[in-house]
Amino acid sequence: MKLAPSTLAADFARLGQQVAEAEQAGADRIHVDVMDGHFVPNLSMGPAIVQSLRRVTRLPLETHLMISDPDFFLDEFAAAGSDSFLVHWEGNNNLHRTVQRIRALGKRAAVAINPATPGAVLDEIVPDLDQVLVMAVNPGFGYQQFIRTTLPKIERVRELVERRKPGCDVEVDGGIDATTAPLVVRPGATVLVAGSSIFGDPDGVAPAMKRLRAAIDHTRDETEVAEQVALQRSRQCNSE
Ligand code: DX5
Ligand code: ZN
Repeated sequence: MKLAPSTLAADFARLGQQVAEAEQAGADRIHVDVMDGHFVPNLSMGPAIVQSLRRVTRLPLETHLMISDPDFFLDEFAAAGSDSFLVHWEGNNNLHRTVQRIRALGKRAAVAINPATPGAVLDEIVPDLDQVLVMAVNPGFGYQQFIRTTLPKIERVRELVERRKPGCDVEVDGGIDATTAPLVVRPGATVLVAGSSIFGDPDGVAPAMKRLRAAIDHTRDETEVAEQVALQRSRQCNSE
């Protein structure tokens, strides 16, 4: 299970320091939310931020492009230091081309889907991906409430991935904290993005990451126990 703290909720005046704290506290990647005020109604960061982050962390930088023309900026972000790109299914008439361009740059490719988009749209593109991203909020802002109706979709997307591209990561983004993390881990999320619950925690980044990790570990233990109980029951039934 991987954790990707989202810099959107960081204090931009102390961005380098906060990212370093997240790295020390065991983050697996750093999630960079890029917004253009057009694809989503907000503005955030550009390649210059990725370039600066590249100097302060060794962690992979995953770049979530919430912009209308992702192809236009791929080269620039790649040169700045992005390791992977999350591009949206919505509004992209040439998604296959975008994904091939990402791969040609030698970067990891992921496709993101919004809460109202069915998981089935990923069916044809999944074999070309390293990761899929299920949005659990409408993209554009941090600090939004987790949309619970996305839960059955996570399970369906997980099944689709198992069938079409085993090993492809299933990432969930939006509204993730110690309460909602277990809800998305159970149906099969393998990477969690968390912004406000990490960088917005008044106790600081390290305690916030610890809490989130504990909630995830508890869920995994619980799932393993449930699986063992189910296995024992089926053995008992078979021997009776
Ligand atoms: C939303 C972004 C998210 C955001 C998550 O448009 O894609 O990555 O930073 O923030 P929280 O964790 O606060 O919902
Ligand atoms: Zn994001």
